[in-house]
Amino acid sequence: MTQGKTGTELAEPPKKPVTVSINGNAYRADEGECLLTVAERVKIPIPHFCFEQSLEPYGACRLCMVGVVHHGKTVMETACTLRAKEGLTILTDTPDIVKYRTILFELYLAEAPKSAVVKEMAARYGVTKTRFLRRVDTGDPLGGACVLCGLCVRVCNEIMGAGAINFINRGPYTVVNTPFTEPSRDCFGCGACAAICPTHAVRIEDRDGVRILHSWSETKVPLSQCVSCGKYFAPAALEKSVLSRIEPPLRDDLAGLCPACRAKKLAKKEILAATGGDPGDA
Ligand code: SF4
Ligand code: FES
Repeated sequence: MTQGKTGTELAEPPKKPVTVSINGNAYRADEGECLLTVAERVKIPIPHFCFEQSLEPYGACRLCMVGVVHHGKTVMETACTLRAKEGLTILTDTPDIVKYRTILFELYLAEAPKSAVVKEMAARYGVTKTRFLRRVDTGDPLGGACVLCGLCVRVCNEIMGAGAINFINRGPYTVVNTPFTEPSRDCFGCGACAAICPTHAVRIEDRDGVRILHSWSETKVPLSQCVSCGKYFAPAALEKSVLSRIEPPLRDDLAGLCPACRAKKLAKKEILAATGGDPGDA
């Protein structure tokens, strides 16, 4: 017989507390914790585009650069890839960092000239103009608002497992889109790309029972309709994929219901059971 693991064996090892210094002040952190997360927690603003808790940091946008002080020297590193350790000392606003960040914001203003998010963020750091050539708008499906951070590509690939979009073209013509800019057959229509996009560049619309992914070559994904209230509530392909992985399977009388009707039905069943009624009547 296989012995099950005890609760103690399953518990995560306790995190070791360490002290890090940010701009001359000491803060507690867990050893190995992402420095950008620590800074956010203690309300020290560090601008960033390509960091998201649910994905491994990969240091693409370079905006979160900070100075790490070591033996009297300051070296620039990205805060999202830095890990907390005892005595780690960082500075977020040295003249070098400010200069570097200014140039990056100018580049992003040129890269995504239509993005209100980029403009607002850059202005917060005193950057309102760019000396760089603006991206030429050649029917960009992301409306001149994409900073090429890659989060949409990564969430589609690494979390949803769909791999429906990727970077296409090269150099100044690089954009995110579906292969050959054709409607995708791999897209579930989950909308994770739109939810994760830091500049709100991804355009999605639900219309007449169909989710239209305007930014992804007008990919169209049918939506499931609730058998009780008639509302469209989830992309059918996504619903099918999720239901096929639920163990034990969702009961037949609940499958096909939207979350609101499902919750109502379950609540009714509980009330009937508690009041001596027949839960089968729910
Ligand atoms: S569409 Fe949004 S998430 Fe995707 S690369 Fe562009 S800015 Fe990043
Ligand atoms: S958030 Fe750190 S490099 Fe993008």
